[in-house]
Amino acid sequence: MTSTPEAAESELSAALTDPRQAIGPTGRPLPEFPEPEPLTEHGPARIVSVCNQKGGVGKTTTTINLGAALAEVGRRVLLVDFDPQGALSVGLGKGDPRQLDLTVHNLLLESNVSWEEIVIDTGVEGMDLLPSNIDLSGAEVQLVHEVGREYILAGALKPAVPEYDYILIDCQPSLGLLTVNALAASHGVLVPLECEYFAMRGVALLMETIEKVQSRINPELQIDGVLGTMYDSRTLHTREVLQRIVQAFGDRVFHTVINRTVRFPDATVAGEPITYFDPSSMGANAYRELAKEVLVRWNQAG
Ligand SMILES: Nc1ncnc2c1ncn2[C@@H]1O[C@H](COP(=O)(O)OP(=O)(O)O)[C@@H](O)[C@H]1O
Ligand SMILES: [Mg+2]
Repeated sequence: MTSTPEAAESELSAALTDPRQAIGPTGRPLPEFPEPEPLTEHGPARIVSVCNQKGGVGKTTTTINLGAALAEVGRRVLLVDFDPQGALSVGLGKGDPRQLDLTVHNLLLESNVSWEEIVIDTGVEGMDLLPSNIDLSGAEVQLVHEVGREYILAGALKPAVPEYDYILIDCQPSLGLLTVNALAASHGVLVPLECEYFAMRGVALLMETIEKVQSRINPELQIDGVLGTMYDSRTLHTREVLQRIVQAFGDRVFHTVINRTVRFPDATVAGEPITYFDPSSMGANAYRELAKEVLVRWNQAG
């Protein structure tokens, strides 16, 4: 730790002149993340829930685009649409998910249905999807009566674990039984926070839920990181919100932040990850950086 203001200043100026030590948007020196090494063998998967009970914070966008960025560096990725809105299934351009015969709903409630019967190709090499539709909205009520109701998703995903490197679960905007199932099945949780007013509202409740799951259901669960989304460096307000997020979560905040850009909604309309829709855009590069950063964290987590 820096002891005097002079030392702090010289450390800061050293950081600012050293290109590798530039100060990032989170106010901390920005490390350079290594290019991911190619894998020689795959699996078992790390399961990660993308979770925040607030809607519109970038959960689905992060699931698709982090997944695609990981697939781009040769990781095998399975996305799980765990929101009855089916935004992930729609966002990958797989047509109307209401037309699907089998979805995650069947996987949860019918013990003779396996993930392999449900999985569909996303059109992104190396990335598959377990789709959902509005049928999933009934699952919460139906699961209440099941024995081991918190562990149903964990059990259903288990046979897929050896086939993938990462399984990303796009959670619905609630802290109900479906989200608890996602957290119970996961090794890690990634929390997107919008760099906007009220970003932190409700976050205490989310952290409380994560702690309860850790103490009662899944002691392995780690907070893999907090991701600032919809960042707009031109406004003081958004920078202040990000500072507050860093004050609250410290090193758990990813150095990588995701800028606000219309390319994300545009990519959703096109039914593609941004790395396909506009491969050289800032948004695509931001998710590539995030992929490198999470790989460093996940490798450390073991
Ligand atoms: N970084 C971003 N910049 C601009 N728009 C974004 C960004 N991330 C997501 N969006 C858009 O905001 C809306 C909500 O994002 P989404 O990922 O669906 O949030 P959630 O899954 O948390 O509800 C979508 O229309 C999406 O295209
Ligand atoms: Mg969503």
